[in-house]
Amino acid sequence: MSNVSVDTDWWRHAVIYQVYPRSFADANGDGMGDLPGIIDRLPYLAALGVDALWLNPFYASPQHDAGYDVADYRRADERFGETADAERLIATAHDLGMRVIFDIVPNHTSSEHPWFVEALRTPPGSGIWSRYHCVRGRGPTGEEPPNDWLSVFGGLAWTQIPDPSTGEPSGWWYLHLFDSAQPDLNWNDPEVRDEHERVLRHWFDRGVDGFRIDVAHGLVKTEGYPDSGEHPDMYGLENEVLVLPQWDQPGVHDIYRAWRRVADSYDPPRVFCGEVVVATPESHSMYLRPDELHTAFNFHYLRSRWEAAHLREVIDHSLETAAQVGAPCTWVLSNHDIRRHATRLAPEAGDVVDANRGLARARAASLIMLALPGSAYLYQGEELGLPEVTDIPDDKREDPTFHRTNGEVVGRDGCRVPIPWRTTGASFGFSDTGASWLPQPEYFGELSVEAQAGSAGSTLEMYREALRLRHQLSLGEGTLSWLDSPEDTLAFTINNVTVVAAMGEQPLAWPAAELLLASSPDVVVVDGQITLPPDTAAWLRL
Ligand code: NOJ
Repeated sequence: MSNVSVDTDWWRHAVIYQVYPRSFADANGDGMGDLPGIIDRLPYLAALGVDALWLNPFYASPQHDAGYDVADYRRADERFGETADAERLIATAHDLGMRVIFDIVPNHTSSEHPWFVEALRTPPGSGIWSRYHCVRGRGPTGEEPPNDWLSVFGGLAWTQIPDPSTGEPSGWWYLHLFDSAQPDLNWNDPEVRDEHERVLRHWFDRGVDGFRIDVAHGLVKTEGYPDSGEHPDMYGLENEVLVLPQWDQPGVHDIYRAWRRVADSYDPPRVFCGEVVVATPESHSMYLRPDELHTAFNFHYLRSRWEAAHLREVIDHSLETAAQVGAPCTWVLSNHDIRRHATRLAPEAGDVVDANRGLARARAASLIMLALPGSAYLYQGEELGLPEVTDIPDDKREDPTFHRTNGEVVGRDGCRVPIPWRTTGASFGFSDTGASWLPQPEYFGELSVEAQAGSAGSTLEMYREALRLRHQLSLGEGTLSWLDSPEDTLAFTINNVTVVAAMGEQPLAWPAAELLLASSPDVVVVDGQITLPPDTAAWLRL
């Protein structure tokens, strides 16, 4: 029986927990997480207090990019279980009062998708190839790639297509903005559009509440494939985003208008969250116009530095630009593509990362985020304060970035290490057999769910209390007002709560009020004054 709320605007203020299926829980003992493992742990997520889950792709895939290379959008990969498990997962989550969002990957298929397999059998340039970007190369025999575009994962964004009858280079190339095993789809082809709408309906009919859209800003490429010029970083969630001919083209908005019509034809309407990586909050909000996507990850916030004035500016700018199109803001600090925020926010001196201050800042940052109006995304393990794992041996690394750059860019495996559930045992309860597709460090046991559950002051208990209070006080639905506060600190009110944060080297003294929650046990109320040490945040009752 579904116990989800009847609120059709739930996405405007929900807390959505990102489950990375490979690394959450392994029920069949092969060392890779799976859908039955997730189903077993759904009560943990319900008790944590999240409103919804987003699952990264679990579809049939050769796993050249951890499942973002989809060979069949309607079927679960057998590594992750049966297709019926996906439906069971939706029903069980609904029973527990949580909604479920899947991931759709429309920018590219796997090179093992039947469309690409079929294309490779036919002469390049022929009709079948119109589903992909198949372009004649430069030079007399097409021996040079069509332009200078680079793959986000390193190397060229083009691979030469072999002539199907001779196996020799044909002078035609296909585009892959990511790995060569992820050919980009050509969204000018109506069949590509129709098929994706069918896929949306397929899962909507099976009860899924919405989709996170992979590379949502990339589907339409500039006509004529002009050179993009030299640039150091193609995507870089952590860095400045560049305006390039392969991203954020105006034609992409029509696609989402059509998708919105599909989502709105359901009762209750289904929702979208775009992975929209664009240069400015203004261009970001274009995706959030009332007839397009409901929400999109706010990477401007994710990229913000641990600096009070800067953070305030980013929050204001995000709220203003989203409000202009009537959309809520979506806040996020970590995901499966970037260094975990407990490490990213840590002060560094040379090669030394101050992990304790990193964790202190991460906890404070999470308390700030969970009080902001709008919806918030949590990435599995952040509620345990997991840091980035930096010492994975090279031969265990799976991220194509590591391999395509010959190890120059270490890649994203460090934030994808399987979750520790128990204090002891091989793989810390991730898998009954003890296998784990990426090795976990020894210290993961102390950070496990078992070690933290019920332990006052643990990161897990802080998140649980934050989510409980956020619900009780409807913080996600409030309006933020800034309060004057000293340099390097932040203070704002939302509903009946004041949020204060000390982000510099000095403590913050604030008139005492009822302390609802603090990111550190060192926040103290003495003699009519509350004192926050550096790198802490607190929620006070007004
Ligand atoms: C963004 C996804 O989050 C990332 O994991 C993936 O590698 C790329 N898109 C390509 O699909």
